[in-house]
Amino acid sequence: MSERIWRHLHLCPSGDPDGTIVDAALAVRDGNIEWFGPASDLPAELSSWPSEDLGGAWVTPSLVDCHTHIVFGGHRADEFAMRLAGVGYEEIARRGGGIVSTVRATRAADEATLLDDAARRLEPLIVEGVAAIEIKSGYGLDLATERKMLRVARELGRRYPVSVYTTFLGAHALPPEFAGRPDDYIDEVCERMLPALADEGLVDAVDVFCERIGFSRAQSERVLDAAARRGLSVKMHAEQLSANGGTALAARYGALSADHLEFLDEAGVAAMKKAGTVAVLLPGAYYFIRETQLPPVDLLRRYGVPIALATDCNPGTSPSASLLAMLNMGCTLFRLTVTEALQGVTCHAARALGRSDRHGVIEVGRRADFVAWSVETLAELAYWIGRPLASRVVRAGVTVF
Ligand code: NIG
Ligand code: FE
Repeated sequence: MSERIWRHLHLCPSGDPDGTIVDAALAVRDGNIEWFGPASDLPAELSSWPSEDLGGAWVTPSLVDCHTHIVFGGHRADEFAMRLAGVGYEEIARRGGGIVSTVRATRAADEATLLDDAARRLEPLIVEGVAAIEIKSGYGLDLATERKMLRVARELGRRYPVSVYTTFLGAHALPPEFAGRPDDYIDEVCERMLPALADEGLVDAVDVFCERIGFSRAQSERVLDAAARRGLSVKMHAEQLSANGGTALAARYGALSADHLEFLDEAGVAAMKKAGTVAVLLPGAYYFIRETQLPPVDLLRRYGVPIALATDCNPGTSPSASLLAMLNMGCTLFRLTVTEALQGVTCHAARALGRSDRHGVIEVGRRADFVAWSVETLAELAYWIGRPLASRVVRAGVTVF
């Protein structure tokens, strides 16, 4: 039996700085939160437990990165140079680059290399305080390579102190061998790939890229339907490059989240509210492809749609392995408040994964996953750019960094 009191800290249990307990204490027994509150209220029976001094640090729940494509082969620095010279993201995809060029590299990479490359991107996230991460497939686009990606994702969860949630994104782009036959590829996704990977326990949720350079609404719906028939949760890359009604479709299937959303309209926002779908905003992708259409943050607020933020870590639109950088960009580019940004990477991100019960808040009875920050105020988490700020990352009561 292990017992410990964490003393000398300011505790923000919900990610909302307004709920902060100044001069708090936190008691952990066998990896779970036993008690927290003002240090002066510490129950007498706990006060003899061994204690650890956090030196006046601010403590929040561990962070959740709810949208990533962190497993992939190679990189696309060459395309970055093309885009800087004026060629658009969609144009590069139409010329046979973009997602499909990463598909070539991912198919060619062996599992050990994919694991190693992804680990180099995951490690900085863990050091930053991320304890739960969503990892999508979608750079295989054939059964064997999608399986390889999802196996690597699961292996990362075994090797690192982070909970991994896998998402099957077979409908990310049309693989070259199905050129001109998108409906046949959707058959392959729905009838062969999804059932096989789900049966192997590799799929926690299903995602679709509903877009001009992805799949139509009708094709996307077939994927959502196949997922729903197997009882799997769904998500959608929606309204990223054009307004296409994908979000309302996702909401009809009770999607956990709709992600990107730059071109989302009011009807889509209303549909999300009704369905309880989380809006996952991805400021790294907005920034990196030099998008100018802003997601409708005011409408999301007005309708009370929860907003999450994520890295979208991927080689084409968001080559970033810093969730804190996304806090800064969410505030600077999308004008989120610090509280919105913090909740966007804690409780709302957990909800976008359908794991509010496990991540995103500090609560008695839950696993003791938290981060101690060496800052004077929580606003610093969104203020600094590219600076590690965690002084201690604790998972199940054990310091992992
Ligand atoms: O989240 N939008 C589609 N998928 C990724 C980008 C994939 C890529 O370009 O490799 C995204 O932006
Ligand atoms: Fe994405």
